[in-house]
Amino acid sequence: MASRGAFQLNVILVLALAATAFSTLSPYYYQDVCPEALPTIKRVVEAAVYNERRMGASLLRLHFHDCFVNGCDASLLLDSTSTIDSEKNSRANQNSTRGFEVIDQIKIEVDKICGRPVFSCADILAVAARDSVVALGGSSWMVPLGRRDSTTASRTQADSDLPSPLMDLPALIDNFKRQGLDERDLVALSGGHTLGFAQCFTFRDRIYNETNIDDDFAEERRKTCPRNGGNTTLAPLDPSPARFDTAYFNNLVEEEGLLHSDQALFNGGSTDELVKTYSENARAFSADFAKSMVKMGNIKVLTGEAGQIRLNCRKVIN
Ligand code: HEM
Ligand SMILES: *[C@@H]1O[C@H](CO)[C@@H](O)[C@H](O)[C@H]1NC(C)=O
Ligand SMILES: *[C@@H]1O[C@H](CO)[C@@H](O)[C@H](O)[C@H]1NC(C)=O
Ligand SMILES: *[C@@H]1O[C@H](CO)[C@@H](O)[C@H](O)[C@H]1NC(C)=O
Repeated sequence: MASRGAFQLNVILVLALAATAFSTLSPYYYQDVCPEALPTIKRVVEAAVYNERRMGASLLRLHFHDCFVNGCDASLLLDSTSTIDSEKNSRANQNSTRGFEVIDQIKIEVDKICGRPVFSCADILAVAARDSVVALGGSSWMVPLGRRDSTTASRTQADSDLPSPLMDLPALIDNFKRQGLDERDLVALSGGHTLGFAQCFTFRDRIYNETNIDDDFAEERRKTCPRNGGNTTLAPLDPSPARFDTAYFNNLVEEEGLLHSDQALFNGGSTDELVKTYSENARAFSADFAKSMVKMGNIKVLTGEAGQIRLNCRKVIN
């Protein structure tokens, strides 16, 4: 009996430890030290999105591109120096990721309201992503906080870890799996493409050469994305790029996905069913999107004494 009791106690301890391993972050992390931080971030994000609705999309993408490269540690925000090879110059980011000035502004205002630099840049990215989704009509979720900022960045890691729009389903599944994310996370998070725009060069092959594409849709897209030239011309990733809705998934079912990697999620493979579910059930999409955003936000976070809290999100404190 005694040994069974001890065994049960051990099981409980192990479970409790496992729970803390998943939740070293907490939505209430800054509640005592700076209760006005979250309303401040929300205010700056809302103003930026009001000024330009695409900014919501751009800020959401920044959190994704941060988390997929050595974890959610704001490594993406560091500018190049003699020792930092900025991730901003990686293939997926160069001339593409945007919104860094808004993050700078948030950092300034949050540090001011908090009276000292206590709020990390990595947490700012996570909260700004959530507030962007909400500003564009999506449902809200609690963002676990307490990430610290990296002292390094890696352009080569960004080049190898950020997914390419030319990937097929197995490559996308593998890419997400290496981040600890499953097929459900892949489909739900790809729903981020309900917001924002892509440049012509990222989908040219698809609209000229692919067969799993609606004819009228391809023709329409070719009008602003010529075979030659026009590389940077933008097209919306779904028909309502400033509205967080299920149009992205409806489009996939109609073979109107813009990127090759988008349509790969509905092309006769294992993710077809889930795409269909999300296209018909906005609540299911919203709930899964939130769950997967939290999961993505947990990737290799720095906590405790690891890393630092930057003063300027673009620079390491030496
Ligand atoms: C599944 C793999 C993914 C691939 C291959 C991919 C690829 C791309 C590409 C090529 C663009 C257009 C960039 C440009 O033309 O400059 C883009 C835009 C965007 N992506 Fe993704 N993406 C993926 C997943 C995600 C995820 C998980 C999110 C967020 C949860 C996301 C959010 C966005 C947003 C919001 C935009 C528009 C940004 C803007 O308008 O500024 N993407 N993505
Ligand atoms: C980014 O834009 C600059 C300036 O227009 C250009 O010189 C450079 O080649 C571009 N880089 C990429 C990867 O498109
Ligand atoms: C346009 O994009 C294609 C495909 O990425 C690239 O090969 C080509 O060099 C680009 N053209 C210009 C003018 O940047
Ligand atoms: C499409 O396919 C043709 C023939 O296979 C090829 O020459 C071309 O480079 C491909 N890409 C585009 C954008 O047309």
